[in-house]
Amino acid sequence: MRVVILPTEHDASIFAADFIKEFITEKQNAVLGLATGSSVLLTYEALIDRHRKGSLSFQNITTFNLDEYVGLTPNHNQSYRNYMKQKLFDHIDINQNNTYIPECFDDAYELSCTNYEIEIKNHGGIDLQLLGIGSNGHIGFNEPTSSLSSRTRVKTLTQNTIANNSRFFKDTEVQPSIAITMGIGTIMEAQTILLLGLGKHKSKAVSELVEGPLSSFCPGSALQNHANAIVVLDNKAASELKLYDYYIHTEKMKLEYMC
Ligand code: F6R
Repeated sequence: MRVVILPTEHDASIFAADFIKEFITEKQNAVLGLATGSSVLLTYEALIDRHRKGSLSFQNITTFNLDEYVGLTPNHNQSYRNYMKQKLFDHIDINQNNTYIPECFDDAYELSCTNYEIEIKNHGGIDLQLLGIGSNGHIGFNEPTSSLSSRTRVKTLTQNTIANNSRFFKDTEVQPSIAITMGIGTIMEAQTILLLGLGKHKSKAVSELVEGPLSSFCPGSALQNHANAIVVLDNKAASELKLYDYYIHTEKMKLEYMC
């Protein structure tokens, strides 16, 4: 696992955006796995900026989002489809027919989950998966004790996740407590994974992910078993890492070696 620690949230997000940009430049028809939430916002802004400046096209890109709330129609204010349109898709040249998000608005949830897995396979799998991490260690909506080999399915959210995400919902809006999420097994099949951990409130989950035991109690720890996982952190999120100095040293050596 590569651990990149940068001074600020902004620096970490620029690193992630540049990584994605280089990836897409090399593979213009890449299949990207995308996340929602706060952690990826500055990265999406930086990608939009690079697109506007003409140095990045998403014309041949396909995307699969990690998750969606059950019961929300795609045009619902709080749906992740709406989030993705507002925060990224409507500002870049992607063909929105090539953007997939689990469909959760009729009762055929299981079929929707199966179809999502088939669709990912039909596209040759995910080349680069972008992740955030929950303060309880979840990735996607794979809450603690999710099977490390789970596939796309319906998950009940923990009280902790519901409370953390309540900030996005107005008092008058009903906040769903279940969601469809890619499984940990699904995520682990991505060729490359880039996880963003930002802020002091993520430091415990980050230390468990990177240095804790491999355990379904911290779903993110599954990344320890991935051959090509990069964890990008700001200083605050990295503050509980025991080998903090080692990760800084390793990245410095990498830069010197490359020069
Ligand atoms: C969202 C997702 C979640 C978030 C995580 C962190 O699609 O998959 O795992 O990445 O809950 O959320 P933020 O970034 O809002 O702290």
